[in-house]
Amino acid sequence: MIDMTVSSILLLLLSSLSFPYSSSSSSTLDSGFSLSVDKPEDVLVSPDGTFSAGFYVIGENACVFAIWFTRLPQSSPNSAVVWTANRNQPVNGKRSTLSLLRTGNLVLSDAAQRNVWSSETTSSWPTRLTLNDNGNLVLSEIHSEETIILWQSFDFPTDTLLGGQQLKKHTQLVSARSNTNISSGFYKLFFDTDNVLRLLYDTADISSVYWPPPYLTSFEAGRSTYNSSRIAVLDSFGSFISTDQFKFTTSDHGAFMQRRLKIDPDGNIRVYSLQQNNQWYVSWQAIPDSCIVHGICGVNSICKYNPRKGRTCSCLPGYRVKNHSDWSYGCESKFQHTCDSNFLKFPHVEFYGNDYVYVKNTSYKNCRDLCLQDCECKVFQFTFEENSVFTCYIKRILINGRHSPTFLGTSYIRLPQNKSNSNSNSFFEEEESDHDNGQVCFVKLERAYASGHVNSFVKFFLWFSIAVGALEVLCICLIWCSLDRTKQNSKANQQGYNFLSPFGFRKFTYSELKTATKGFKEEIGRGAGGIVYKGVLSDRRVAAIKKLNDTNVGAKQEEAEFRAEMTIIGRLNHMNLIEMWGYCAEGKHRLLVYEFMENGSLAQNLKSNTLDWTKRYNIALGTARVLAYLHEECLEWILHCDIKPQNILLDSKYQPKVADFGLSKLLNRSDQNTQSFSMIRGTRGYMAPEWIFNLPITSKVDVYSYGIVVLEMITGRSPMAMASLSEEGEEAMNGRLVPWAREKRKKTTSDRKGSSWVAQIMDPAIASNFEIEMRKIETLASVALKCVEDDKDERPTMSQVVEMLRSHEEEAS
Ligand SMILES: *[C@@H]1O[C@H](CO)[C@@H](O)[C@H](O)[C@H]1NC(C)=O
Ligand SMILES: *[C@@H]1O[C@H](CO)[C@@H](O)[C@H](O)[C@H]1NC(C)=O
Ligand SMILES: *[C@@H]1O[C@H](CO)[C@@H](O)[C@H](O)[C@H]1NC(C)=O
Ligand SMILES: *[C@@H]1O[C@H](CO)[C@@H](O)[C@H](O)[C@H]1NC(C)=O
Repeated sequence: MIDMTVSSILLLLLSSLSFPYSSSSSSTLDSGFSLSVDKPEDVLVSPDGTFSAGFYVIGENACVFAIWFTRLPQSSPNSAVVWTANRNQPVNGKRSTLSLLRTGNLVLSDAAQRNVWSSETTSSWPTRLTLNDNGNLVLSEIHSEETIILWQSFDFPTDTLLGGQQLKKHTQLVSARSNTNISSGFYKLFFDTDNVLRLLYDTADISSVYWPPPYLTSFEAGRSTYNSSRIAVLDSFGSFISTDQFKFTTSDHGAFMQRRLKIDPDGNIRVYSLQQNNQWYVSWQAIPDSCIVHGICGVNSICKYNPRKGRTCSCLPGYRVKNHSDWSYGCESKFQHTCDSNFLKFPHVEFYGNDYVYVKNTSYKNCRDLCLQDCECKVFQFTFEENSVFTCYIKRILINGRHSPTFLGTSYIRLPQNKSNSNSNSFFEEEESDHDNGQVCFVKLERAYASGHVNSFVKFFLWFSIAVGALEVLCICLIWCSLDRTKQNSKANQQGYNFLSPFGFRKFTYSELKTATKGFKEEIGRGAGGIVYKGVLSDRRVAAIKKLNDTNVGAKQEEAEFRAEMTIIGRLNHMNLIEMWGYCAEGKHRLLVYEFMENGSLAQNLKSNTLDWTKRYNIALGTARVLAYLHEECLEWILHCDIKPQNILLDSKYQPKVADFGLSKLLNRSDQNTQSFSMIRGTRGYMAPEWIFNLPITSKVDVYSYGIVVLEMITGRSPMAMASLSEEGEEAMNGRLVPWAREKRKKTTSDRKGSSWVAQIMDPAIASNFEIEMRKIETLASVALKCVEDDKDERPTMSQVVEMLRSHEEEAS
């Protein structure tokens, strides 16, 4: 008897210990009982305390019946509701109840006695509602020998899938309307009738799939259509697997922790993991560039994505935003649509889908005429496609507008005469950035690639950047000769096709290139990866043609893959990036065709003292711009990893163009892991300390190398020359250029104000108008010293460098 009491006291103690959140709560509700919104203690708590189910306040006097993580109380900004009974119909904050009727029906009623929601179940046995440790709320019949599940919340997900919960044939996840409004929004994750898991944008007027990319076949997207069981599940270790062969693992894969997969109001699916400090962080997401999501900025708008700043929506000229707090309404026109014949040009802007008409292999004029003939045509899109042909798309609705540097096409938007005078670059009349991601701590990309489990898009860039690191080997030295650009080329520029040569990025035949180079005669540069020849193409353009060593082409290299990669690299475009005109892949031959640079490399010019301070400043600014573009505008993944004067080429106007990246991946395709990354190095003298200390490699390695190059431009001293002078071995890897410059600055500033430390490090051989140019050189020097900080976090990003240099320019003018 005493034993019994002791053990029951112990049990009580234990249970109160293990339910620290709500010791009086139970995990079950029996038939004939109900939960009331008026009693805060009326909450079901799962046996281990992880989940709670009850009334959840979503607004003033408005509640929903929901399941949430107990650890994160309702008021917490990190709270996470994982299921709601009545997301579209909140109930009154007073006198509402959830009752389990004796008939077996679970009913949610509003204060006004209206039934808002019910499980629509019946049973002649007693029933019980139980909240399990996995977050599943289960209604079951209680027989003597077995329990039969009548209903469970796992079968009716809202926007969240918990670990172990299956997404099935007839279930779907539907996003919330916004971060503050939990009612059903526009985005759906579901199994399509062809058994493929897809993301759909679905409104009353428009419905379109945006993931997997709709321009790919299911097969191309890595999906299978054969398994009609249609089940997808995220397990408790962070692996997601779907019957259409789609799989992924989270960046924290392996660890047992609370995770939830959610379709967010921005149309992306993310996995959130719960940290010890009760913060959620994103351990996986489906879509890196959030502008790919359809309808994200509404109609008549353009979405622009930047990994640092996130997504930006802006209205087209002549349109104004409909609702400042909700971009999904898009923009409305401020003018009457008539049969106007004026167009405003938007390079790199695409309006995906909703083609009223499309015509392949056509001319700009035909395309424009097609649009003019149709009074309802609002835009025509002239797009460069495979095989050097242009395709014309006529659209009557402006939706899914997206600016992307890699999109090879131009949209021409129809506007009345008076509106079309405006400049397409200054059309940001209404704009709003979206910092959705700021609410949760994002797992940095470094982790994502360390795990090696990333989706194929990220994988490409990852692999690209890794390979880019192997650049010691490649050093094109494009050289000499001052041939004017061909007539065709300057005509092309007049037409405004700067971003895209009218000849297109194309595939050359080997014999074509052999003829162009007169049998590979005139060698202009040589590196470990191959030899660069000068050549004249059949259209009279002068080109630098790089012939990769045959031995460097992996035997297993797939022709198609090679071509796809070349296409993507060729699509990157920036005025300070060497332009790739095409490639050749025939048998064992792999060649790359670039524009020819008249004035050779920065290295050669530094030696010959041809560069005055203005030129040097412009070279520093141009190089910073293209690096900022590679690091931030394309995707964070594109690291150059071998910035040095030999890889900065100069055109006839001494504008810099960064070359020699992205090719070395041809050298070894299998090098995908970080280990090989850390073994690959840049060039002695320009390498960031991270390489030596085996620290994570980020875009800051390029910032460091850039800083060294700028210091070299100022001082005229090569870090390599200084390294060989010093005798301190590895420690003096980057010579004493950096400590030497720092020392000079420290001394002079502490000595005497007013005398510039820059004068002490400046190359005296460069002619300068000292008084006037001193400020400029000082700016350069202090930026350079910031860039070569040992701690990568203290270095600025490339776009900050651009900002610093530009703000100086503006001050001066
Ligand atoms: C939430 O969104 C729904 C659907 O668009 C709308 O009907 C409702 O008014 C919104 N609620 C609030 C509080 O904005
Ligand atoms: C804008 O949207 C918000 C949220 O959906 C809504 O509450 C508000 O009433 C809307 N404003 C206008 C002017 O439509
Ligand atoms: C495109 O059209 C031109 C002229 O109509 C034709 O010569 C060319 O072969 C076509 N190209 C393709 C790829 O269809
Ligand atoms: C640079 O190019 C310009 C124009 O082609 C030419 O006039 C000049 O001589 C070149 N300078 C050098 C150092 O090659």
